[in-house]
Formats: sequence, structure tokens, C-alpha cells
Amino acid sequence: MDIIHHIGELQQKLHSHKENGLSIGFVPTMGALHAGHISLVERAAGENDIVVVSIFVNPTQFNNPDDLRNYPRTLESDTALLRKFKCDIVFAPDEKTIYPEPDTRTFSFGRLEQVMEGRHRPGHFTGVARVVSKLFSMVKPHRAYFGEKDFQQLAIIQNMVDQMKFDIIIVPCPIIREEDGLAMSSRNALLSQAQRKIAPTIYQTMKKVEKKYNTHTINQLKDYFKEAVELSPLLKIEYVEFADESTLEPIDQKLDKQQVRLFVAVLAGDIRLIDNLKINS
Ligand code: PAF
Repeated sequence: MDIIHHIGELQQKLHSHKENGLSIGFVPTMGALHAGHISLVERAAGENDIVVVSIFVNPTQFNNPDDLRNYPRTLESDTALLRKFKCDIVFAPDEKTIYPEPDTRTFSFGRLEQVMEGRHRPGHFTGVARVVSKLFSMVKPHRAYFGEKDFQQLAIIQNMVDQMKFDIIIVPCPIIREEDGLAMSSRNALLSQAQRKIAPTIYQTMKKVEKKYNTHTINQLKDYFKEAVELSPLLKIEYVEFADESTLEPIDQKLDKQQVRLFVAVLAGDIRLIDNLKINS
């Protein structure tokens, strides 16, 4: 496994792989790797000849400076973990490599960036689009792998790929959960013992909401979720929305034959936990 910090070296390596007709699978990450990331690496390894994982904590997608400062940075243990799987190249650039000068590009994702995460984290998706478009141009993969935990991010990235006409297949991968149901996230490492203990309530309540879906209104379901989760003084709801799975437009009334997903963001102290669940009504 090669650990590469500079674009020149990365492109030289990838050029020879591409010359040899090998396909490239790409897993962009911000490090602090867990089983969720590894599931993406394994999927990429099953579908491509060469797997590239990038590790870069992207400052432009953080709208809260404390969140950026506290974000876990664990390059050594990340690379040690990746060595156990089929990862051929780790690309770990520094900030100057990705942003030699400030990136002032703006993107337009319409309603997709105005709801849920977009509404609560202004500028977040512009930052994601900036870094992912740069990484795509550097790596030029055949396929790129993203987890459905960041379901809205996936929709934004697919939209960006369509707009910018990148010749890359975006592969959505299912959410990986801890045994108690908590969605795996690099931020889980920041939870205190007490927060970690209560955090699975989020998913457990989402499952209860799913069971009630056919017999309650959207507003009743949202109220139920809020009340049940906020029974713990350690958890505070930022938003709970039901949205159309393809447009991500929040709904307040159920429509026949609509594919619906439940989206939530919950604060445990300063730590933001997001999750989503396809509603099988
Ligand atoms: O999902 C993430 O970890 C990040 O948003 C990504 C896609 C690596 C961009 O920094």
C-alpha cells in the first residue's frame, strides 16, 4: 500500500495503472476510519482493480470552527487499518495541496441544498462539492463510493457529477450500524460514555416511528420522535423530517406510492449525529 501526499506522485502512479487498463475505485474520507468506511473499501475492492482512499479533513465544509478543531485526526491508525484490507493507495494531502489558493467556486444545487443539512449547515455542501470535485479531478476514478448515512451528500454529489459531466459512477453503500443500532460515524469517537450509552435511542426511536407510520400523521410522528428522544436531557433534536427519497423535499402529508425516508439530526452536547431510514410503509 502506497501512502502518497503529493498530486504529482499520485497521478504518476494512477497513470501507469490506467495505461495497463486497470479500473480505479475511489473512497473519499476525512479519516478516523471505522467499519462503515471499511465497507466502502471492500465494495470498491470487489468492483475495481485498484482502490484509492483519500484522507483529508476538509476545512471548507465545516461551518463551525470548533467542529473542525475537534474533528478526530488519526492518520497513523487509519493507514494501519487500511493495510489489513485491499487498499492500494492512500492519498493524504495537506491543505495547501488541495487549496493552493482559496477556492471561491460556488455551486447551485437548488432545493437539494436548502433542506435539512443544507438548511442547518450553511455553506457545508459548497465545501463538500469543492473538495470532492478537486479529488475527482485528481484521481479520475471509474467509480466512487459514498455511504448512505450522508444521504443528502450523496444526492448532492450525484447532482454535481451530472452538472460537471464527470465520467464517474457514484456507488451508494448502505449505512453500517453498531450492534445497538447507532449509525457508525467518525464523530461517535467524540461522545462521552453517557452520551454513547444514550445515542442508540435515536435509531431505536426511528424504528418505532417506522412501525407507527401507517397509523399516524406526519406531525404526530415527528412529535413522537422529538418527545421520545428528548426524554434524555443529553439529546436535543436539531431536525426531524420525512422527505421524498428522490427529491429530498420534506413532506407534511403522505402521498400514495411515494418513497419516503426519515431524516434526523440530533445533538449530544456539541456532537451532531445524523441518521436516516427508508420507511417501509
Ligand atoms: O463524507 C465525508 O467524509 C466527507 O464529506 C467527504 C465526502 C470525504 C468530503 O470531504
